[in-house]
Amino acid sequence: MILVTGATGLSGSIVVQEFARQNAPVRALVRNPDKARKLHGLPGVEVVEGDMLRPETLTAALRGVERVLMISSPRERMVETQCTFIDAAKAAGVPHIVKYSGKESGVGFDPDSFIGTHEHLQIERHLEASGLAWTHLRPSQFMEFYLPGTLTGVDPHRRELRMSIGDSRLAPVAIGDVAKVAVALLNSDGHEGRAYDMTGPEALTMKEVVEHISAATGTAFRHVELPLEDKLRECEEAGMPEPSIRILRELFAERGRRPESEVRLETHRTFGVRPTTFAEFARGHAAAFLGQAGGDGRW
Ligand SMILES: NC(=O)c1ccc[n+]([C@@H]2O[C@H](COP(=O)([O-])OP(=O)(O)OC[C@H]3O[C@@H](n4cnc5c(N)ncnc54)[C@H](OP(=O)(O)O)[C@@H]3O)[C@@H](O)[C@H]2O)c1
Repeated sequence: MILVTGATGLSGSIVVQEFARQNAPVRALVRNPDKARKLHGLPGVEVVEGDMLRPETLTAALRGVERVLMISSPRERMVETQCTFIDAAKAAGVPHIVKYSGKESGVGFDPDSFIGTHEHLQIERHLEASGLAWTHLRPSQFMEFYLPGTLTGVDPHRRELRMSIGDSRLAPVAIGDVAKVAVALLNSDGHEGRAYDMTGPEALTMKEVVEHISAATGTAFRHVELPLEDKLRECEEAGMPEPSIRILRELFAERGRRPESEVRLETHRTFGVRPTTFAEFARGHAAAFLGQAGGDGRW
């Protein structure tokens, strides 16, 4: 049995839906049954409750599991949550954990880099030292993070992408591509002790991102560059909680420091996944960019 944690979140729900689309059986760990409604009824998906921070709640979820795709929130005690889970999985006899990691494209695991990347590194080291078989799947920034309601999304009312990273280029990847790689990886052997970095197919400036969104929606969006402190104040006034503000501050500082983003498509090629372009992503999410669908306020 394969277990996916964080199954009600942005990445986890897309991964579980990809399992269902491919008729590949999967167990989905959720801690809040109300949020799990969208998973019930998906073919081959078994929903199990548990809290990654409370090993005593994980017995049913971990029973008979051969591989885990470990996902949790970057905004919520990520190191403690995932390290606790790794220890619980080991105690339950799970042989192999695939860590859904992440890294800024083109940045590498630099101890001075964005805190999210640094936290992923800490967890990767804990997993590697655990004695379990491990694999790291490291997507770059998600294309989904330009959707309304996310930390770095467009404002659908003003028709603006309000950013503070200058002319830096980013190579965002569609979570759907990461999900296809995850399903293939979890259902095949030979990936132990390996790290798979992946980005999207193009390194884009924010101006280019907005041009794609405008073309896909048939509506003029503009890129507005703000001083970082103004952007953060705007987020604060809109009610964004402190941990998200902190992540945003580090993220923008990191992205401003490294103007060029590298494109890494080896993982797409290894698993036979065609890279989704930002133009395709924008066309598929045109209604969401216009504020007519999605955008569930994930701060
Ligand atoms: N944002 C990016 O561009 C990017 C790029 C690369 C990698 N990443 C990484 O991708 C990962 C997933 O991000 P995401 O945005 O998809 O996450 P997300 O939407 O915040 O989802 C996190 C999931 O983890 C669950 N969770 C958190 N704590 C838990 C606990 N103690 N027990 C059980 N479940 C728990 C949440 O459950 P509830 O629904 O109950 O809250 C939710 O289902 C993060 O590690 C992030 O750093 C992000």
